[in-house]
Amino acid sequence: MANQDKINELITKRVEAKLGGGEKRIEAQHAKGKLTARERIDILLDENSFEEFDMFVTHRTKSFGLDKEIYLSDGVITGHGTIDGRIVYVFSQDFTVFGGSLSETYALKICKIMDMAMKIGVPVIGLNDSGGARIQEGVRSLAGYAEIFQRNIMASGVIPQISSILGPCAGGAVYSPALTDFTVMTDKTSYMFVTGPKVVQTVTGEVVSAEELGGAQIHSTKSGVSHFLAKNDEENLLLIRKLISYLPSNNLEDPPSIKCDDPIDRLEDVLNEIIPENPNQPYDILDVITTITDNAEFFEVHRNYARNIVVGFARFNGRSVGIVGNQPKYYAGVLDCESSRKAARFVRFCDGFNIPIVTLVDVPGFLPGTGQEYGGIILHGAKLLFAYGEATVPKVTITLRKSYGGAHDVMSCKQLRGDLNYAWPTAEIAVMGAKGAVEVLEGSNIKKIEDADEKQLYIEKKEEEYTVKFANPYVAAKYGFIDDVIEPRNTRFRIIRALELLSNKKEVNPPKKHSNIPL
Ligand code: HXC
Repeated sequence: MANQDKINELITKRVEAKLGGGEKRIEAQHAKGKLTARERIDILLDENSFEEFDMFVTHRTKSFGLDKEIYLSDGVITGHGTIDGRIVYVFSQDFTVFGGSLSETYALKICKIMDMAMKIGVPVIGLNDSGGARIQEGVRSLAGYAEIFQRNIMASGVIPQISSILGPCAGGAVYSPALTDFTVMTDKTSYMFVTGPKVVQTVTGEVVSAEELGGAQIHSTKSGVSHFLAKNDEENLLLIRKLISYLPSNNLEDPPSIKCDDPIDRLEDVLNEIIPENPNQPYDILDVITTITDNAEFFEVHRNYARNIVVGFARFNGRSVGIVGNQPKYYAGVLDCESSRKAARFVRFCDGFNIPIVTLVDVPGFLPGTGQEYGGIILHGAKLLFAYGEATVPKVTITLRKSYGGAHDVMSCKQLRGDLNYAWPTAEIAVMGAKGAVEVLEGSNIKKIEDADEKQLYIEKKEEEYTVKFANPYVAAKYGFIDDVIEPRNTRFRIIRALELLSNKKEVNPPKKHSNIPL
């Protein structure tokens, strides 16, 4: 064969590989409102940056007539490219080849890029759209999944791992995304469940659709499995590009810093007025966040899940930070099982990847009741407490209003190695609110008063006394638990200066095999 013929053979093979399962199946994919595996890579990565590996890999199965059905690439596209010039590895499951189902060789392709990413220290992004284990391959497919899971586990906390769900993801296959740091689902076209609707009906009798069982809405609002909800494939992939912009490439690097055009010392008078006179009146913590961050930007994680706490990424003077804020707009910003778990996982991610944490506190306490106790609030609350106490990244805490009881301790207080703890003059830092405190301390005196009006007057007087004495920042400041009481309008500058001060912070936990966070 002449050289040119050999080159032509290569070109032909490449064209064949790029067709995946063929034109008809590509059309079917488009008809569902979905992009193909390759189109997705094109959106995710910088233009012309993708270098593909293992395009000529095929499966090794001969039974079920599969020796006559062979596709180059075998249902998954793998390789590396860049996002904003930074290297990432990517795999993209091709639904047009055996429904994107996973064979032994397909798993090896994914493992190869995961190993490369670990060697180099760069993120892995997985684009999932698959019917799960390739049925014809049997246990070899299960083994392939387990090889991937093991790599997900070893890579956890070393390189960022991001999963995009763009179609089916069912059975044990869901556990690879679950082991990664962030999951992005597309509305209406993606779903995740351990057992599908048919099995659910057979085993439990429950009739449920795939959408109701594990659609993007459900996992973004009820289960918390999905961190981001996208309206289509394109938005899903662009969200990942944005997420990557806040993250370092690995746990030994600092997150990227960008030039900041937003004045670091802008004073925001609006913050001096943001806390309502009535302590029971809500306000939106997002208004506070977007007033203080660079260019009012906030990339919210888990926006629709456990909305009584807000977590997400932002920048101060061009540097990435993780923000955690109680949200008075939902359930008064109370801590419960879900919000504790949500924030704990976020704090641990930030700590693992050297991203400083800014905490904005306005928390009335933990939600009381059997629902919470039976649901394990003791363990879930402890997760958040543990995450903050274990974190060694810079921690800046601002108490805006309420900071009561156990929730005060949990929300990055001084004794959990909070580096700089500031409070607004409107802060109320105490064991509990005035109403509860007066009920406990004055209960027997109140009972003795028979006249209802007199009783009410007495309660109000005692509550007022308690408020003046304890519901302020100065008691905590007197003991040095609060480093300074600051004017709200100055918050942006104080945070930036604190982060600057802490930029060389070194704090190391004692050597151990691993901690035992209350899971
Ligand atoms: C082999 C598969 C396949 C699979 C789909 N296909 N799933 N081939 N193994 N797991 C093939 C189909 O035969 C079909 O081939 C093509 O992919 C497209 O599938 P359709 O059914 O036509 O598509 P659609 O109607 O969109 O339905 C998609 C689907 C359905 C919901 C994913 O195919 C399905 O239910 N598949 C089985 C899912 C499953 O039970 N997987 C095992 C889960 S357990 P042609 O040639 O017609 O195009 C599991 C364990 C993992 O994954 C364990 C890890 C520890």
